[in-house]
Amino acid sequence: MIHSASFFCLCFLLSNGVFSADTDELKSVSVTEGDSVTLNTDVQIQQDDQILWMFGPQMSRIAEIHRQSIYIDATNTIFEKILQMDNQTGSLIIRNIRTEHTGLYKLTIINTRGSSYKRFSVTVYAPLPIPVITSNSSNCSSSSSGSSVSSCSLVCSVLDVSHVTLSWYKGNRLLSNISVSDLSISLSLLLDIECLDDSYSCVVAYSFTNQTTHLKNTDLCQPCSDWEKSSRHFNISAALIVLMLVFIAVVAGLMYHRNCKQSEKEVKGQEEEVLYIDAEFCAHRVQSMDVVSAEQTVYSTVKT
Ligand SMILES: *[C@@H]1O[C@H](CO)[C@@H](O)[C@H](O)[C@H]1NC(C)=O
Ligand SMILES: *[C@@H]1O[C@H](CO)[C@@H](O)[C@H](O)[C@H]1NC(C)=O
Ligand SMILES: *[C@@H]1O[C@H](CO)[C@@H](O)[C@H](O)[C@H]1NC(C)=O
Ligand SMILES: *[C@@H]1O[C@H](CO)[C@@H](O)[C@H](O)[C@H]1NC(C)=O
Ligand SMILES: *[C@@H]1O[C@H](CO)[C@@H](O)[C@H](O)[C@H]1NC(C)=O
Repeated sequence: MIHSASFFCLCFLLSNGVFSADTDELKSVSVTEGDSVTLNTDVQIQQDDQILWMFGPQMSRIAEIHRQSIYIDATNTIFEKILQMDNQTGSLIIRNIRTEHTGLYKLTIINTRGSSYKRFSVTVYAPLPIPVITSNSSNCSSSSSGSSVSSCSLVCSVLDVSHVTLSWYKGNRLLSNISVSDLSISLSLLLDIECLDDSYSCVVAYSFTNQTTHLKNTDLCQPCSDWEKSSRHFNISAALIVLMLVFIAVVAGLMYHRNCKQSEKEVKGQEEEVLYIDAEFCAHRVQSMDVVSAEQTVYSTVKT
């Protein structure tokens, strides 16, 4: 008897602390149709506590716990067989929620210390469609190896959506996005890529959840070669650098050539030894011209 009295006392103190925290707060809850949602009371029920859930324009009682017995309104047809109550906390569980369950839910907790209230604004969204990725130009896959840069147009679309954002990602990087607010419409978002790898994805998202389609179909675009994957960005600048090196080397080569001819003229009539050294210098320069032509060959490989 003493034991249970002290237990009650402890619980009294604990729940007092909880109750003083909030009296009438409004919580927004977003869910997708077909999901289950739990509206939490954030309390532990005591022996004589009364928990009351109300819904709709009339604020009619839909569920209640009083003296530890649970009552669920069986006459309320829109909640038929989908409502449950947690017998420890009095939290309301709505299973397989539908759009008609959108609205304001009011919680009243009555006990010996008084009453407290909470409101839940529940919004039920239509299920997110899975984004569909198609090719916008049927000819992109047949790009020839001779053309400079092949490009491929992809379209990501979702039908009949509202309050969503549609985005293209490469890995975790956002490439582009569009949003639609109220209307239920179809959305398409175009993406131009040079070649296909599997890091691209299209995401359709509500603020609280999303659906993703990864670009895996290699039929849509020409796949990136390993070489392109690792060095696509590097090679554009590399090509420019090679081009500049070739130019500098050619100019330098022409100047050396002139110098060489001049020195050949100068050495005429001089001693054989000097002529030999000079000839070696010219031969060395010819070698460097060979390197230049080798670089030119590398450059044309880069270009294809
Ligand atoms: C509470 O519900 C659980 C099952 O959900 C049940 O096992 C338990 O007996 C219930 N407790 C009371 C006090 O009704
Ligand atoms: C495909 O591209 C053309 C022009 O490039 C554009 O007019 C058309 O709207 C695109 N199709 C889709 C579904 O985006
Ligand atoms: C694709 O190629 C066909 C001919 O093969 C051409 O008629 C059509 O315009 C091309 N479409 C695009 C989007 O380039
Ligand atoms: C696109 O995404 C950025 C970053 O998440 C966001 O700030 C922007 O509002 C979005 N734009 C649209 C049209 O959704
Ligand atoms: C999609 O949702 C998951 C969790 O549900 C989240 O981790 C991810 O960041 C979301 N992606 C985008 C692009 O919003």
